[in-house]
Amino acid sequence: MADPKAKVRTRHFLEAKRNGVRITGLTSYDTNTAAIFDEAGIDFLLVGDSAGNTVLGYDTTVPVTTDELIPLARAVASSVRRAFVVADLPFGSYEINAEQALATSIRFMKETGAHAVKLEGGRRSAQQISRVVEAGIPVMAHIGFTPQSEHRLGGHRVQGRGADAEDLILDAQAVEDAGAFAVVLEMVPSDTARRVTELLEIPTIGVGAGPHVDGQLMVWTDFAGLTAGRVPRFVKRYADLRGALTEAVTTFRAEVASGDYPAREHEYE
Ligand code: KIV
Repeated sequence: MADPKAKVRTRHFLEAKRNGVRITGLTSYDTNTAAIFDEAGIDFLLVGDSAGNTVLGYDTTVPVTTDELIPLARAVASSVRRAFVVADLPFGSYEINAEQALATSIRFMKETGAHAVKLEGGRRSAQQISRVVEAGIPVMAHIGFTPQSEHRLGGHRVQGRGADAEDLILDAQAVEDAGAFAVVLEMVPSDTARRVTELLEIPTIGVGAGPHVDGQLMVWTDFAGLTAGRVPRFVKRYADLRGALTEAVTTFRAEVASGDYPAREHEYE
């Protein structure tokens, strides 16, 4: 985005799209990563319910609760100077009706200092988005593969392929009409993502949606190589934190066993 020092606001997302400037986002769940990503100039940090997998040790995002995400969102929001912080509404906290979505969003805004909320779903969540936006809270929408519905979708599967592209486009238009300031497209074929990006005025943020989107978002533990085992095809590993930590902890263990740690310089007189 244009000014690397100015606090990021929702209007900067729209300006970035109009000016062809790509938006960058990472997930974050704690004070250290939030401060590092913020200082590096990442435009927005998502306190995602992916914390269920990356922090809390669940198999899916389904069990994550509002009470679990609030302290993480507070840690992230209080650790940034410039980045825009988006808090994810977890499964079960907004689907019942628009009033439930608003009540949960108000909790996140009051108790964490986040700047916006994100919720999953296209046409099915349009009323919720309108109600939250009307109350003065910016909403980032999320369509395509929506992890909270993974059991209905039959697992981690690409969405919006072939004839399903038309459905995805209707969802995209619905969230824009409802007032979302940006929309995440997760695991969507590049051509469908390009069509959505050309159609919408609000920016599209891709997570496995190819290059024809207005910005890119990644789960930080995937991009930094901390996640164990297989990661989705769209992930590029920019570091090997798992390897680096394993090496560090192995050396620590060996040095304690041998007596090399602590050395003279680590002692108090
Ligand atoms: O929770 C999360 O991290 C997300 C992104 C993957 C879009 O929703």
